[in-house]
Amino acid sequence: KVLILDFGSQVTQLIARRVREAQVYSEIHPNDVSDEFIREFNPKAIILSGSHASTYEDHELRAPAQVWAQGVPVLGICYGMQTMAVQLGGTVSWSDTREFGYAEVRAHGHTQLLSGIEDFATAEGHGMLKVWMSHGDKVTALPPGFKLMASTPSCPIAGMADEVRRFYAVQFHPEVTHTVQGEALLRRFVRDIAGCKGDWQMGGYIDEAVAKIREQVGDEEVILGLSGGVDSSVAAALIHRAIGDQLTCVFVDHGLLRLNEGDAVMEMFAGKLHARVIRVDASELFLGELAGVTDPEQKRKIIGRLFVDVFKAEAAKLKAGTEGHKGENGSRAVKGATFLAQGTIYPDVVESGGTKTKKATTIKSHHNVGGLPEQLGLKLLEPLRELFKDEVRALGVALGLPHDMVYRHPFPGPGLGVRILGEVKKEYADLLRRADAIFIEELRNTIDPATGKSWYELTSQAFTVFLPVKSVGVMGDGRTYDYVVALRAVQTSDFMTADWAELPYAMLKRTSGRIINEVRGINRVTYDVSSKPPATIEWE
Ligand code: XMP
Repeated sequence: KVLILDFGSQVTQLIARRVREAQVYSEIHPNDVSDEFIREFNPKAIILSGSHASTYEDHELRAPAQVWAQGVPVLGICYGMQTMAVQLGGTVSWSDTREFGYAEVRAHGHTQLLSGIEDFATAEGHGMLKVWMSHGDKVTALPPGFKLMASTPSCPIAGMADEVRRFYAVQFHPEVTHTVQGEALLRRFVRDIAGCKGDWQMGGYIDEAVAKIREQVGDEEVILGLSGGVDSSVAAALIHRAIGDQLTCVFVDHGLLRLNEGDAVMEMFAGKLHARVIRVDASELFLGELAGVTDPEQKRKIIGRLFVDVFKAEAAKLKAGTEGHKGENGSRAVKGATFLAQGTIYPDVVESGGTKTKKATTIKSHHNVGGLPEQLGLKLLEPLRELFKDEVRALGVALGLPHDMVYRHPFPGPGLGVRILGEVKKEYADLLRRADAIFIEELRNTIDPATGKSWYELTSQAFTVFLPVKSVGVMGDGRTYDYVVALRAVQTSDFMTADWAELPYAMLKRTSGRIINEVRGINRVTYDVSSKPPATIEWE
């Protein structure tokens, strides 16, 4: 396994990700671990991350001496290169100008790390790399034993290598995708230079994660808020794999879920996985409090507050140990819960910028459970903190969750509450659920011949919106005066901007025909052709 020492860069997690993509297991630890820790960890290679700090100004932020004594390959990235230079006898000079962004780096000296890895060659035959740089300080004199590995006009020592000790360093960031050959470079380092086998896959990740959870939790009890969304589902499945009945999932059903969604969640977790799930049917409470409320923000606030209240009440019972523990194999000793598990994933973990030190990460307050661990006096368990969304999905599949559940479009916390415009009523929610289920079914069943993918896969998010207005229609011989729905389907990579999807007319026609025929009470279907911005994805 590979040890990544984190000096506080915002992209350290990406190093781990690229290493995982080379099927090698790695762990990220703070840069100030002890020499003893490194000896025990027994890494096959060590990678030193970048940092916001300056090697020139910050004399505290150094790699442990054992890094150089361990006898394994070391790769320094950006700050990692600078501290390598300083610690091994080279020079770094301070600069008040930052080099930031795209750069073209020339490879030198046929090192094992870069040989054969290039984006293009110059007329003179020099291998060139297209990279992403972000640094102020730079190495100005090589440490003894090192040779020049890469350069740019403004950064004459952009890479250095001591091939006897197998110490390599680059000033640019191979972990970001803007460095075209970055993945190849990191793969070369961990696979070819360090000799890691490349046999690590999600299955291996599960074993490691399970062991970690067991170690962290011991024989204590864990509560998890299950929403049916991808992240909480995968977290639940993973934690359940690790500690079985020590986990209790609380599923708050606010009555604003999609058709059959609540039952499907119960069937999967309680039925198939035999996990302990408490389903709290709070739909009457939610609908009651929402009656007469039309303002979107107010609706969101009410739903958020009730969700927290209901969850907290349930969690408090579990914490007190008063909620009997009826596991599969009968009751177990009643014991209060001490952990709250959350499906926080890496993109939710935001660096608190501005500080020089690492480990200053804070958690984005989730729309419904922010601040809960403190309020409840529970310890946090976040087993997905290091994973990106697509890795979470792969993990879910490896844990045996159904593909369709794991590759679902995102669904907002307030659920149908923000997809029924204005006042939320049970009647509206029931009509909307049925119309939406038809739309989703048609998306899943319509295959695009050019790509072989379904339109569900070709869109990032698709759903139906209920408009509480009536329009006139004709059905058979009769006049109808019924509600209108809007179909919404968008394509986006980050949900910050989005284009409406050019769904096939034939599919829209089929969907509209089915909704009007099968859902009595709706007589008109429209398609939303607004992009974001200026529209948002949801209508409220
Ligand atoms: P908008 O409508 O702002 O949505 O373009 C962007 C993405 O965020 C989702 N969304 C939410 N998710 N709680 C959530 O968990 C919310 O309150 C919420 N509001 C919007 C939306 O579905 C889309 O994916």
